Amino acid sequence: MVETLHPSVRIAIVGAGHVGSTFAYALLLSGLASEIVLIDANRAKAEGEAMDLNHSLPFSYATGIWAGDYSDCAGAAVTVVAGGAAQRPGETRLDLVKKNVATFEEIIPAVSRSDTKSLLLIATNPVDVMTYVAWKLSELPANRIIGSGTILDTARFRYALSQHCGVDPHSVHAYIIGEHGDSEVPVWSLANIAGLRLLDFCGVHGVPHDKIELDEIFRQTRDAAYHIIERKGATYYAVAAGLLRIVEAILRDQNTVLSVSSLIESYYGISDVCLSLPTVINRRGVECVLRLDLSPEEVAGLQRSARVLRETIDQLKLVEK
Ligand SMILES: NC(=O)c1ccc[n+]([C@@H]2O[C@H](COP(=O)([O-])OP(=O)(O)OC[C@H]3O[C@@H](n4cnc5c(N)ncnc54)[C@H](O)[C@@H]3O)[C@@H](O)[C@H]2O)c1
Repeated sequence: MVETLHPSVRIAIVGAGHVGSTFAYALLLSGLASEIVLIDANRAKAEGEAMDLNHSLPFSYATGIWAGDYSDCAGAAVTVVAGGAAQRPGETRLDLVKKNVATFEEIIPAVSRSDTKSLLLIATNPVDVMTYVAWKLSELPANRIIGSGTILDTARFRYALSQHCGVDPHSVHAYIIGEHGDSEVPVWSLANIAGLRLLDFCGVHGVPHDKIELDEIFRQTRDAAYHIIERKGATYYAVAAGLLRIVEAILRDQNTVLSVSSLIESYYGISDVCLSLPTVINRRGVECVLRLDLSPEEVAGLQRSARVLRETIDQLKLVEK
């Protein structure tokens, strides 16, 4: 177990549902934070989660955990936003946009009023659109607003490839970029295992790698949420682990490359939209977005993804800051 980093590292979580409370639990067990505040429109839900989490303190780290309100975001190192509606079976992430923009029109100005220096980490779906909306509604510069983006899809992709290739997912280096959703793009051209191109690894080790197999791996990755939601109603463990990884990179100032969503400018002709690309994350938030040498097919896929997101944003009528 690691030591708590600093005597006062506060993480605020807005939305104590499946995602927010699972992240709170992962954060508590990590020892990274000394204070965890849960804020939810359903006060009783936040209180119940805080009580339950507090009862694990005898087995974890000294951490202050309570159900609070927006004034508690003051001084938070990171405010994680996971409040709002989730997908129901058959719904796409983009279907949620109207409901969740209205929710953000309440949440983001309320967070901004009590904390103007924090860093916002957005999990609410459709996460790329909500990251853009959070930027528009808050007082923060774009580098301090991060969406969890395709950190989850990239994890699913690495897991599926690790199963297919018979190696540890930690050793699989492959990214999903673009929208966290149906238009996301697998970067096959740069996928590798220990620097060995994925297709070369497969060839040498007798692993099937024709187009049908690879398409199936991507399909499993892209559609995983639909299959999980059909079976258990929600997804939350893997996204909570991804949120924790992002928060760790911020708190420890790690310069970690993670596929997260942020405001993109002049990237293969894409501007003024939030989407995921491998991004260096540290205590300032987004340090820089890596310029990938993509194949023409991947560029076309990324531009298509950006168009889907831009068209969704264009339909919104935001009440801006
Ligand atoms: N980014 C990802 O990879 C990822 C993965 C899974 C889920 N999600 C998204 O995360 C969000 C939460 O999912 P969930 O499964 O936890 O849903 P949930 O229904 O379990 O929890 C949502 C919580 O938000 C609260 N809430 C609603 N409006 C609020 C407001 N105005 N202020 C404060 N709290 C409010 C609700 O009371 C509820 O407790 C959804 O949008 C879901 O699609 C994202």
